[in-house]
Amino acid sequence: VRILVTGITGYVGGALAPRLAEAGHDVVGLSRDPRRTGPDIPVLAGDVNTGAGLDAALDGVDVAYYLAHSLESANPEGFATRDRRMAQNFVAAARTAGVRRVIHLGIFDVPRRSSHQESRIEVDEIVRATTPESLTLRSGPILAPDNWYMQAMANLVKRVPVVTLPERGRLLVQPIDGRDVTECLAAAATSDAVAGHAVDIAGPDVITQRELVEAIARRMGRRRLVTGLPRFARRRGMPEVFARVGGGDPAILKPLFFTGLTDNVAHDDGAARLDVVTRGVEESLDHTLTEMGLRH
Ligand SMILES: NC(=O)c1ccc[n+]([C@@H]2O[C@H](COP(=O)([O-])OP(=O)(O)OC[C@H]3O[C@@H](n4cnc5c(N)ncnc54)[C@H](OP(=O)(O)O)[C@@H]3O)[C@@H](O)[C@H]2O)c1
Repeated sequence: VRILVTGITGYVGGALAPRLAEAGHDVVGLSRDPRRTGPDIPVLAGDVNTGAGLDAALDGVDVAYYLAHSLESANPEGFATRDRRMAQNFVAAARTAGVRRVIHLGIFDVPRRSSHQESRIEVDEIVRATTPESLTLRSGPILAPDNWYMQAMANLVKRVPVVTLPERGRLLVQPIDGRDVTECLAAAATSDAVAGHAVDIAGPDVITQRELVEAIARRMGRRRLVTGLPRFARRRGMPEVFARVGGGDPAILKPLFFTGLTDNVAHDDGAARLDVVTRGVEESLDHTLTEMGLRH
């Protein structure tokens, strides 16, 4: 199957492309700057924000992964407007090229959405409407050494003795191992079980944010007190503090802080539909923190 991976220079696309090639697919990537990628998979120049290069990149493609987002400091207009335009440009070009299936990785839906969650679900719906087979896999936090989430959590544990979480850390999360995300996305290229749907993929464990922080801290050999802050402080200063302490790009971390203000759990088991057996939190954290060189 001829497959295009947008976001091949990012965390999700970077892990997925070699897996697809290994499965025997004919894989090509898309990036605004193809020089930033390795030699193994051909990468074409293209920009989903302007539409440049999309027609050429999608020519002859059967399945396209849409794994780009505009959460970056270089985006002055705000993520919602640009993410909508990027998705619409991609969908239009994919339809013109006759792509059979577009696959997107989104986030779990929740009852009270933040502006970031609103925007992610909007993109999810735009992309899923491309063709009848197009689909979204939705996940919660991804546990992997090279993903922003674990890097921010590890920095938080390293840098502050008291970790401040919404609702004193009582909100629920259902993380997934990065290796399982890659397997689910790869299986979605050809599976009939998820075609045309939005399905949640997750690990087997539902835990509180506090338990997750404590499990990370324990492996790093630190004891951390988990506490909460009044509502006004959460809205005002906490996203900035979270972004600064977490390191990385504040344009990614600030909106994601608000994403953590509700329970973040799966509503169905898309991984099982894709025949992927997902790993538990303990196994994922052991692997991730060892790979990051942070295991005590
Ligand atoms: N990582 C997670 O924990 C997680 C969890 C759930 C869902 N997701 C979703 O998975 C997708 C990928 O996330 P990620 O973490 O892999 O992102 P990432 O590491 O931040 O990478 C972002 C990617 O977007 C591409 N991109 C941005 N603007 C572009 C443009 N105008 N034209 C073409 N490409 C553009 C970048 O490519 P170039 O800079 O090379 O152009 C880069 O490869 C996103 O939709 C995200 O919402 C991620």
